[in-house]
Amino acid sequence: MASPSSYMAIVTMALLILFLGSSTAQLSTDYYSQSCPKLFPTVKSAVKSAVAKEARMGASLLRLFFHDCFVNGCDGSVLLDDTSSFIGEKNAAPNANSVRGFDVVDDIKSKVETACPGVVSCADVLAIAARDSVVILGGPSWNVKLGRRDARTASQAAANNSIPPPTSNLNQLISRFQALGLSTRDLVALAGSHTIGQARCTSFRARIYNETNIDNSFAKTRQSNCPRASGSGDNNLAPLDLQTPTAFENNYYKNLIKKKGLLHSDQQLFNGGSTDSIVRKYSNSRSNFNAHFVAGMIKMGDISPLTGSNGEIRKNCRRVN
Ligand code: HEM
Ligand SMILES: *[C@@H]1O[C@H](CO)[C@@H](O)[C@H](O)[C@H]1NC(C)=O
Ligand SMILES: *[C@@H]1O[C@H](CO)[C@@H](O)[C@H](O)[C@H]1NC(C)=O
Repeated sequence: MASPSSYMAIVTMALLILFLGSSTAQLSTDYYSQSCPKLFPTVKSAVKSAVAKEARMGASLLRLFFHDCFVNGCDGSVLLDDTSSFIGEKNAAPNANSVRGFDVVDDIKSKVETACPGVVSCADVLAIAARDSVVILGGPSWNVKLGRRDARTASQAAANNSIPPPTSNLNQLISRFQALGLSTRDLVALAGSHTIGQARCTSFRARIYNETNIDNSFAKTRQSNCPRASGSGDNNLAPLDLQTPTAFENNYYKNLIKKKGLLHSDQQLFNGGSTDSIVRKYSNSRSNFNAHFVAGMIKMGDISPLTGSNGEIRKNCRRVN
């Protein structure tokens, strides 16, 4: 029979192995429960008033989180402004003239700073704002893992190379997601974000004029506000989900089955390939979509967080301290 002290040694060893073996154990849903108890209501009310002012803002905040996480992890890098001596990510190809919501992030962050100065990272503010946006527009809720710190750097090259363009085919989409540890199922579920928000003519022009896997009358409708000649009407907007772009549900997948995906990359998910069955499933089950979307968001939020003494807690999301 082993002595109590050797039991203690075994327990200590086991805990040490558990601790060293888990790489994402640093993030936790109660990370700020002591240091910033008013965090969740503070973010939610700021997101609520921004979405009440402009319903599209929920989509814009959700996309900002995606564009943050896909570029060297969820570290607030997308929020940094360019300066004369610093190149951020805002002018990278997928972001320029397209990502928006920075003023709203500033507003949320300043309210959080008032409640708990110097405590909550911009990366975490964005993660919570993305969740709240989804909930406010009618989507599922989840507990957001927190404890990320903010980058002191950004990478325009990584933003150009990591965020998939709308011209991507299915294999390219799968491999961009796989490179970040996200599965094909995560890809299809997270692309369901396109049940909300808008895209510019320049992002879908080639599809509505040149592709054959598109509903004819849908193509005609979209052509009416997106001229064929590049350079004219490039910034004209169309909803990613044709009927309900401010409601978070599974209509996106129903559109894909009718060949009414707006982006080339959207329709790739239902084009005779390996993801057709997932699209069918989500189109038939809002609850199955919701569950997989939530799992995908949590996984995406786990990409390469800065923790411990890495990075910083930025005071102003637009610049390093
Ligand atoms: C699967 C690969 C993806 C591609 C190729 C893609 C591409 C795009 C493009 C081209 C736009 C329109 C941008 C513009 O024309 O200005 C857009 C909008 C949007 N994307 Fe994606 N996206 C993808 C995945 C995602 C994911 C994973 C999310 C969130 C988790 C997301 C959220 C959004 C939202 C909400 C909008 C609308 C934003 C707004 O109205 O301001 N997308 N996306
Ligand atoms: C990223 O893409 C933009 C727009 O296409 C381009 O101007 C810029 O030079 C690229 N940056 C890097 C570092 O490759
Ligand atoms: C359609 O495809 C043709 C031939 O590849 C190309 O020349 C043209 O620019 C494309 N049109 C649009 C609107 O993308």
